[in-house]
Amino acid sequence: MPLLEVKDLSVRFTRREGAPVDAVQRVSFSLEPGRTLGIVGESGSGKSQTVMALLGLLAGNGNVSGEALYRGENLLAMNEAALNKIRGDRIGMIFQDPMTSLNPFLTIERQMTETLQLHRKMSRRDARRRAIETLETVRIPDSARRIGMYPHEFSGGMRQRVMIAMALLSEPEILIADEPTTALDVTVQAQIIELLRELNRERGTAIILITHDMGVVAGLCDDVMVMYAGQTVEQASAASLFAAPTHPYTRGLLNALPRLTDSSDDDRPLQTIPGNPPLPGEVGAGCAFAPRCAYCSDQCRQSRPALVAADGDPQALRACHRPVGEILEAQHV
Ligand SMILES: Nc1ncnc2c1ncn2[C@@H]1O[C@H](COP(=O)(O)OP(=O)(O)O)[C@@H](O)[C@H]1O
Ligand SMILES: [Mg+2]
Repeated sequence: MPLLEVKDLSVRFTRREGAPVDAVQRVSFSLEPGRTLGIVGESGSGKSQTVMALLGLLAGNGNVSGEALYRGENLLAMNEAALNKIRGDRIGMIFQDPMTSLNPFLTIERQMTETLQLHRKMSRRDARRRAIETLETVRIPDSARRIGMYPHEFSGGMRQRVMIAMALLSEPEILIADEPTTALDVTVQAQIIELLRELNRERGTAIILITHDMGVVAGLCDDVMVMYAGQTVEQASAASLFAAPTHPYTRGLLNALPRLTDSSDDDRPLQTIPGNPPLPGEVGAGCAFAPRCAYCSDQCRQSRPALVAADGDPQALRACHRPVGEILEAQHV
């Protein structure tokens, strides 16, 4: 049984003025124990709201529908107490900005041990020992001393490690990381991804990684779901998606990625996708990506493509009217 099975998850926000925002539209995915899933897409594509909805953390004007089975139990139908127990205990969450989950006025020790004393009924001493061990797991040097420091005394990268340590205290089965490296410089980014990879390999923690950066996905994920304007446009194993992206949007995201093989004197500009994602309410009846798509046809402007198996690979899904062959062929020019 998958650890997490999400079926037709939709999120709609009502607004005081204007039409409601369909931030997430019928998204489905499953996460097996020990697997890593990347959710990728430009800003505003619905990545964060997808996981916020799972954990019951939507803003007050948000409404969720669909199903999200955690070990067979629907998270979306749980009461607050039951959900609270799973959140932060079986499912850990880390955000782009560690300061959203760290209290600036309390030492790291206090923040970590309080959680353990409260949820795990540990003694102060055991809790401290466990907290230090966890800081060591995330490679914070000199943990026994640093545990007495305040969040602002840590660098951005170290703070992100502290937040990961906090999420690991309860040894969650699933770790959800929402843009965990976006605010960090490239070297530190790579270290955090490496740390997540170790946690996945050594402890078997399943990971959902949200990012706008395909490079980050490549470093960690077994499976990938690409979102655009609230919808899944391509969903496949990382191996197959990176080898042969079958959706023009995925292809655009990959083209915007610097290649390791690019020599430093190669100053070809990276190809970014021209234009911007649509604003809520701007999406017409056709494919949401059509206005930016180099392969766009009349059919694409008129009707929205369904997410279906790409021919040849029943595991790989795509939402595109254009034939796979046409997209793949263009990649080799
Ligand atoms: N409380 C809200 N009310 C109305 N719209 C919202 C609200 N929260 C998020 N949205 C909209 O939902 C869409 C998806 O947002 P989000 O999931 O945060 O995107 P991202 O992929 O960058 O994480 C965006 O268009 C955003 O403006
Ligand atoms: Mg987000």
